[in-house]
Amino acid sequence: MESADLVVINTCAIREGAEQKVIGRQGHLAKLKDANPGLRIVLTGCSVREPDRAGLRRRYPAVDVFLRPDEEPELVDRLGLASAQGAIGTVAPVGPVGATTTVGRAVVGVADGLSGTRARAVGEGTVARGSTISAWLPIIYGCDKTCTYCIVPFSRGPERSRPFDDIVAEARSLAAAGYREVTLLGQNVNSYGHDLAPEPRFGHVDAARWAGRRLDLHGRPDLAELIRAVDGLRTTDGRPAISRLRFVTSHPWDLSDRLIAALAECPSVCEHLHLPVQSGHDGVLRRMGRQYTVEHYRERLDRIREAVPGIAVSTDIIVGFCGETEEQFEATLGLLEAIRYDQVFAAAYSPRPGTPATHLADDVPPDVKRRRLNELLAVQERIGLTRNEAWLDREVEVLVDTVVPPRSHDHGGPAAGATAGQGAGEGSVRLSGRARTNKLVHLSGEPGLVGRLVTVRIEHAGPYALRGALVGA
Ligand code: 5AD
Ligand code: SF4
Repeated sequence: MESADLVVINTCAIREGAEQKVIGRQGHLAKLKDANPGLRIVLTGCSVREPDRAGLRRRYPAVDVFLRPDEEPELVDRLGLASAQGAIGTVAPVGPVGATTTVGRAVVGVADGLSGTRARAVGEGTVARGSTISAWLPIIYGCDKTCTYCIVPFSRGPERSRPFDDIVAEARSLAAAGYREVTLLGQNVNSYGHDLAPEPRFGHVDAARWAGRRLDLHGRPDLAELIRAVDGLRTTDGRPAISRLRFVTSHPWDLSDRLIAALAECPSVCEHLHLPVQSGHDGVLRRMGRQYTVEHYRERLDRIREAVPGIAVSTDIIVGFCGETEEQFEATLGLLEAIRYDQVFAAAYSPRPGTPATHLADDVPPDVKRRRLNELLAVQERIGLTRNEAWLDREVEVLVDTVVPPRSHDHGGPAAGATAGQGAGEGSVRLSGRARTNKLVHLSGEPGLVGRLVTVRIEHAGPYALRGALVGA
């Protein structure tokens, strides 16, 4: 960073720690600017959420330009990259602030240009892709849910679905570019389409299909319809043009039977579902504003496991939410034992400014939060190991995506520690990839296998990953 003329910081606001990290760097960034007066610093992402910039300037004094997530094209303009307008000035007033809306009683800026920005970038072929193997495909921006701890409805505004045909067109172009895996992306992908205009071609999508809220969905596309359309993109020999289709995140409240049927029937949809539960106690769920009960959650999961046998399930948990008693925390541990997740992402609750939960007392002391988090992770480590051991001696399809750099304690060349089997010989390196269940799988083989779907026989299982030998590519 010392020699940079431009620093662009992309922020995440979901937990306090993520935001504090950037705030804590302001002094260092200011020093860099002292040393290099030409340096310009741009801040974007979810931390840029207030319609007025005064608060942002106070918290991020070293930053020259604040851009909402949909304002990236403006970044290009302001830097003079596209239109040669010259360098940006210090503390430049940001261009027109986008529309605002109210979420609860708060006024928030809305990144309302996202769909258009995306369509333009796809058309121009300028979407930044981190990989040539797997791609994210945003389908809905924002969130209309009411989770009391969550800043997303404030940072990302209300739900806006991308037009159905734009998404299918982007999926088609990804398939043509050789992508093997696509993940449909949104804060709550299950809401997809409720805000789009009804059309005769979606006349069969009926209104009463949500487990939770009853929106008038008649004639509007939904996630199930979208999944079927992307799965329906086929090669000339009839195989799905995109081998693996995933989607995140699903809110349990409106996970429909139509979606479950699509998961079961579409061959490209991977056997993995991320279904955040947050807590195993109804009282906590109520305070969190999650809109479902543990019973409803378990009913949905039973239906899914029935429809897609062997599906891997992961979840998010918050420990130490306002008023969480020891007994309520233990109910969460009990739920983990009962459901037996493949993977759990857990965090201690941290209050986020402006969210409804800031009106509740954050009364679980930090050391109790930490202890509960460690206890929960230990329980899950044991469960994860058992779940993974069930894959021993079985063959799984792996999409190889990484050459793992040799570890410093490896001796005897890059193939050291390689498991037996085809591909573990001369020229073989350590590789990793994902099974359809999203499990991380380590193997040995030629670097040329990156980007390929291979078959691996599982020989070792740990709590967080599997290891095996190549049996075919
Ligand atoms: N504190 C802790 N965890 C949070 N999450 C969201 N907001 C908070 C918060 N204030 C977690 C939830 C969510 C995941 C993306 O982040 O578990 O599912
Ligand atoms: Fe946040 Fe809840 Fe929306 Fe997820 S569903 S983004 S937790 S408000």
